[in-house]
Amino acid sequence: MGETQLNVLKGLSLEVSQGEFVSILGRSGSGKSTLLQILGCLDVADSGQYLLDGVDVFSLNDEYLSQLRAKKLGFVFQSFCLLPHLNVLRNVMVPMLYAGVPVETREGTAKDWLIRMGLGHRLYHKPSQLSGGERQRVAIARSMVNSPKLLLADEPTGNLDSEVRDLVFDELRRLQKEENVSLIIVTHDQELGYKADRALKLQDGRLCGL
Ligand SMILES: Nc1ncnc2c1ncn2[C@@H]1O[C@H](COP(=O)(O)OP(=O)(O)OP(=O)(O)O)[C@@H](O)[C@H]1O
Ligand SMILES: [Mg+2]
Repeated sequence: MGETQLNVLKGLSLEVSQGEFVSILGRSGSGKSTLLQILGCLDVADSGQYLLDGVDVFSLNDEYLSQLRAKKLGFVFQSFCLLPHLNVLRNVMVPMLYAGVPVETREGTAKDWLIRMGLGHRLYHKPSQLSGGERQRVAIARSMVNSPKLLLADEPTGNLDSEVRDLVFDELRRLQKEENVSLIIVTHDQELGYKADRALKLQDGRLCGL
């Protein structure tokens, strides 16, 4: 948006293995969210190539892209992004609708994931009736229901106090190991960043080791 063209990512290269956990740190405005949006197929780079599970993402039309997003990607955001008018169970069922999962299995899968996240007693609550940590665990359940290959989390603990921050972070790491999902986390928190398999810093449009 706006008049001036801003080159945010420049000559950036990144390869992530299946099941690998990568953290990305960097100054505010360095382009971390931009990178995550491209990796999440929500935005397209002006040039370059992005291979996701062998698929050349930038060559896909909108229909294929939506399918790819629904089936191979999971998202967790700083602000949780739950739908306020739906209860917890319904929120977690939403991605299965987009992925074309048969309607009769959606509720059971969503329940299983919520129980796994320790929220079996909160199924019929609205997001506004939950704590920040609980909301983020709902968002994590929602991100995992379609067994994604790649889980993208932009400041997932940014709105949480320190105790809950560690819980949510450990939950993400546990899932990454148990489900062999690749996990890319953007964080301002060096201490959390160093817990990843690989900690990278985004600087001058490129990624380098921390
Ligand atoms: N919609 C937009 N229109 C114009 N410029 C934008 C827009 N979104 C982001 N930018 C610019 O692109 C650059 C990268 O932004 P980005 O949101 O990726 O940074 P970030 O590293 O995620 O920052 P933060 O840590 O504050 O979340 C910034 O200079 C920002 O001002
Ligand atoms: Mg950001």
